Amino acid sequence: MVHTVSSITMARPLCCGVLTRRCDTRGSVTGASSGRSSHRSISSTSAAFLQADALDLPFADEFFDHAWTQHVAMNIADRAGFYAAIHRVLKPGGRLAIYDVVAGEGSPPTYPVPWARVPGISFLVTPEAMRNGLARAGFKELSWDDKTVACRAWADEVGAKRHSSPAPFGLHTVMGPEFAEMAGNLERNLREGRIRIVETIVAKLRAAANRRRNEDHG
Ligand SMILES: C[S@@+](CC[C@H](N)C(=O)[O-])C[C@H]1O[C@@H](n2cnc3c(N)ncnc32)[C@H](O)[C@@H]1O
Repeated sequence: MVHTVSSITMARPLCCGVLTRRCDTRGSVTGASSGRSSHRSISSTSAAFLQADALDLPFADEFFDHAWTQHVAMNIADRAGFYAAIHRVLKPGGRLAIYDVVAGEGSPPTYPVPWARVPGISFLVTPEAMRNGLARAGFKELSWDDKTVACRAWADEVGAKRHSSPAPFGLHTVMGPEFAEMAGNLERNLREGRIRIVETIVAKLRAAANRRRNEDHG
């Protein structure tokens, strides 16, 4: 049974709901996202959503069984601190699932993009730097999938639909009139190799392995 899953960082409680439905019903899901410093809890029987800093999660060590983060790390400058914070709240052996944008081999991305209107709040790292950062934080890689090709196909399809029959509601409703340009740049950046999309699952090493790793780095 999954007892607790942390989804770091969700823009909306909806993502917690998705996890809740997918998890064992006796489990619980907590979503954390940035915002004001106060912690606000919107709870149902098995999901809670709170505002917190992903670099300073208000949970005890080894609190969560698993964690999930989607499209977040690219907005966080302190990548080492981010992975260390998640590592701290995971139980040994707990898994962290990540879906994120990484830097491509081409030139820097064209802005605005959906995660950043300006380059100053975008902190993309190369796939190698991401993998090394996770290993340094004490995670063992279980899977690594480059989703760039699938994401390009999806972006092309969504882009074509947007032009042929624009939906009255969608991401543009919450992201504003700049969204069309952001989405266009996302497609272009993928096409031009400026960004890649990765999905990886890593696991927190168990205590003995963590100790050895710290000694090696120490
Ligand atoms: C590109 S959005 C993605 C949101 C959501 N994960 C999604 O896929 O729709 C990045 C999110 O990371 C949050 N964020 C950035 N830095 C954070 C931090 N230090 N602590 C918590 N959340 C943070 C932002 O508030 C924003 O909601």
